[in-house]
Amino acid sequence: EVVREWSGRLQLEQTLSKILHIKEVIIVPGNVDTNTNATMLLSQEAAKFLESILSNDKIVAVTGGSTIASISNFVQDTTKWKNLMFIAARGGVGKDVTLQANTIVSLFSNKTNGSYRTLYMPDSLSEEAYTTMKKEPFIQEMMDLYEKTSIIIHGIGDAEEMARRRNSSEEEIERLKENGSVSEAFGYYFNDQGEAVHRIRTIGIQLKQLKNIEHLLAVAGGAKKAKALLSYFKQAPEQTVLVTDEGAANEMMNII
Ligand code: G3H
Repeated sequence: EVVREWSGRLQLEQTLSKILHIKEVIIVPGNVDTNTNATMLLSQEAAKFLESILSNDKIVAVTGGSTIASISNFVQDTTKWKNLMFIAARGGVGKDVTLQANTIVSLFSNKTNGSYRTLYMPDSLSEEAYTTMKKEPFIQEMMDLYEKTSIIIHGIGDAEEMARRRNSSEEEIERLKENGSVSEAFGYYFNDQGEAVHRIRTIGIQLKQLKNIEHLLAVAGGAKKAKALLSYFKQAPEQTVLVTDEGAANEMMNII
């Protein structure tokens, strides 16, 4: 019985990686929406995968959110890497400090004997602030680091939930709905065809930079995120590896 269950999941992983046009899908048992054990398994599996692709002198960009935050708990304490650098891929989102990319990079670097760089500013900037900030030397330095990044660990969110976390106005949320936004990642909102229908003005990593990055590790689970995942993966770079759970995987299969 156990073997059958396992081979079922293995097959689902292969089927989904073809459907989503990405390198690999790794599915853990359970559904993070209803099962905290699944959350642990998801983070554990993501940490394991990250450890398998780390090497000396790598720059790893990290986004925020509860999923990515919990991965650092499962990364082994080690001093085996030299010059690993974790950098915040986006500015601050929402009020919870534990979910910020800036906090999460310090957690990863503590575990792996690396260093970290933060992006201390709101993720979403006014046009004026954006133009001014872009000229700051520390921002230029971050933008150079994004160009040299070889690994990204990122979450994928439901569009409306992410807009609320960002304290977007009801008017903005209404506009996102009108645009058909389904998912959010890196400050971009995507419709069900994977078209970026809205983006926030951010200094963080830009969508076009993702294509040149060697390893993209997307981590997101839960049946509630199935629609968002299908939307994001309509356009995701093909070198992406997705770590997800059965909840999201089965629901994606139901929808398509
Ligand atoms: O960009 C998407 C978010 O990082 C997802 O956040 O892991 O808390 O659902 P979450």
